[in-house]
Amino acid sequence: MCGIIGYVGRNNCMPIIFDMLKRLEYRGYDSAGISVISDSNLYLMKDKGTVDALRSVVEFVDCSIGIGHTRWATCGAPLKHNAHPFLDCKKELALAHNGIIENYRELKDGLMREGHVFSSETDSEVIVHLIEKYYTGSNLIEAVRTALGQVRGSYAIVVLDRRNKKIVGARHESPLVLGIGKNEIFLSSDIPGFLRHTNKVVYLNDNEMVEISHGGYSVYDFSGHTLQKEVKEIQWTIEDAEKGGFEHYMLKEIYEIPRAVQDTLRSRVDASILEIDFNDFERILLIGCGTSYHAALYGKYLFENLLKVPTHAEISSEVRNSTLAMSDTLAFFITQSGETADTLAAARNLRRLGATTCAITNVVGSSITRETDAVFYTHAGPEISVAATKTFVSQITALYMLAASVGEVRGEISASVKTDLRNALRVLPSELQKVLDNAEPVKNVSRELAKYENAFYIGRGYNYPIALEGALKLKEISYIHAEGYPAGELKHGPLALLCEKVPVVAIATYDELYPKMIGNIAEVKARNSPVILFSTENHPEANELADFVVEIPENHQIITPAITVTALQLMAYYVAKERNCPIDKPRNLAKSVTVE
Ligand code: M6R
Repeated sequence: MCGIIGYVGRNNCMPIIFDMLKRLEYRGYDSAGISVISDSNLYLMKDKGTVDALRSVVEFVDCSIGIGHTRWATCGAPLKHNAHPFLDCKKELALAHNGIIENYRELKDGLMREGHVFSSETDSEVIVHLIEKYYTGSNLIEAVRTALGQVRGSYAIVVLDRRNKKIVGARHESPLVLGIGKNEIFLSSDIPGFLRHTNKVVYLNDNEMVEISHGGYSVYDFSGHTLQKEVKEIQWTIEDAEKGGFEHYMLKEIYEIPRAVQDTLRSRVDASILEIDFNDFERILLIGCGTSYHAALYGKYLFENLLKVPTHAEISSEVRNSTLAMSDTLAFFITQSGETADTLAAARNLRRLGATTCAITNVVGSSITRETDAVFYTHAGPEISVAATKTFVSQITALYMLAASVGEVRGEISASVKTDLRNALRVLPSELQKVLDNAEPVKNVSRELAKYENAFYIGRGYNYPIALEGALKLKEISYIHAEGYPAGELKHGPLALLCEKVPVVAIATYDELYPKMIGNIAEVKARNSPVILFSTENHPEANELADFVVEIPENHQIITPAITVTALQLMAYYVAKERNCPIDKPRNLAKSVTVE
């Protein structure tokens, strides 16, 4: 996720352009850049680092039109030459992009053969060269449309044309909105970009384009037809708008899950990157801390099930001092931030012991990427709230993609399993959306759970890590003491704590362990604990044992945990809200734990 902006209007507009970018920094902040036209010259200023850092070193020129970008790297490390905007070879056009171009390698190869020279490792740069290829100098909108016809993926773009002093914007599965001011027009990934200047907005839909210049704006569809768009007035404050109208970043990020999953799926996490023989390994280790450890544990069930290789999930701080020889081991280090000190130390140690090491991280260019032999990115976009939400769902999606691709290489996954899983993944974003669109049952049970001071979360198999993650989410933001347990383990101790004051959140989505879960829920009920049941639609057998039920859409048993955990995150959020907790910044915690 990145922030893009376009502006045309007043003289001396560089301060406005920087202010707009600053407002979008929540979408990415590892590099920034702007391009403006002054005295018919095209200026490009960009660097790694924040918008403020760039602003403090550039020379301000007088201009009234320009574009800008604040980046969250997905393809190409966060370095100056990978920062947007990018110029075409003739330096007549500048482009900023938000999204992922899936077929950029083949497009780039073709363009290079035709003589185009590239300056970055990004996917985005191909777009400006493609536009250059089709642009004769008079009809930019047509050239952009032709170029985008060849692009596969998601994008919102802004293209600045030096000769004609205009900007063309276009969107497909990435946001772009138009702001209409008095004698000025704004383009932005999100409304906060221009809300200080105007509250008049034109929402662009997917596959729509806009041309803005000092003469006004026109909107078109991708077939070239002119569209009449309604100008809407929004009533939010800037503060509301930065969170996209959500009260907290955590809630906003939960609602970004369907998009994050789509981006992870698009990124094609693929085992071929590793260039190793998977039959060489005797075992796989999955390592992380906190939420990332829970993703590792989910991965253990997944890898053993799909790959038939002994797989262990380990907590980083526990394996960092291991002394076992590991030349037979493939080790994955899962870390959203890529900066967690314990995970970095574990990666260093296991590499020293001979393991082949791979990182699964959300932050391009983070420290873990320098400590491992290979890197997979989750592409969930920046996460601001301390509680990890969308990044966990992206981690388990990436793990699934890895397992499926290694399984294919090893010949462990049958064609029918592959088809089932592919179909399951295809509907995952819409099922996640369904949970988010119908949050009332979750809100109702949250009001109940908020009354207690202790809770247990139970699950079996794939749902055991989901129980752990649900409990972690609840305790970290609502301060209710919560424990995640394998459901079969209750009778070995914790049952002693169960009573009417200790509710149990039971995750009993439908799989082969479902009958056993029903038995465990009956055990709980016999101790008078209130039961909050997360079950799957079409399988209400356990519902009558529960005091409260949240039904979630049923998918393949490997994929359903992504949906269940989204509902659990939402429940933790509403419990914390009910208890008036500082949700985005829980006490004693930090987003990135760089101490040991
Ligand atoms: O950045 P990492 O994934 O390495 O962070 C690991 C944990 O600190 C993190 O997952 C933590 O548990 C979350 N804030 C929990 O929501």
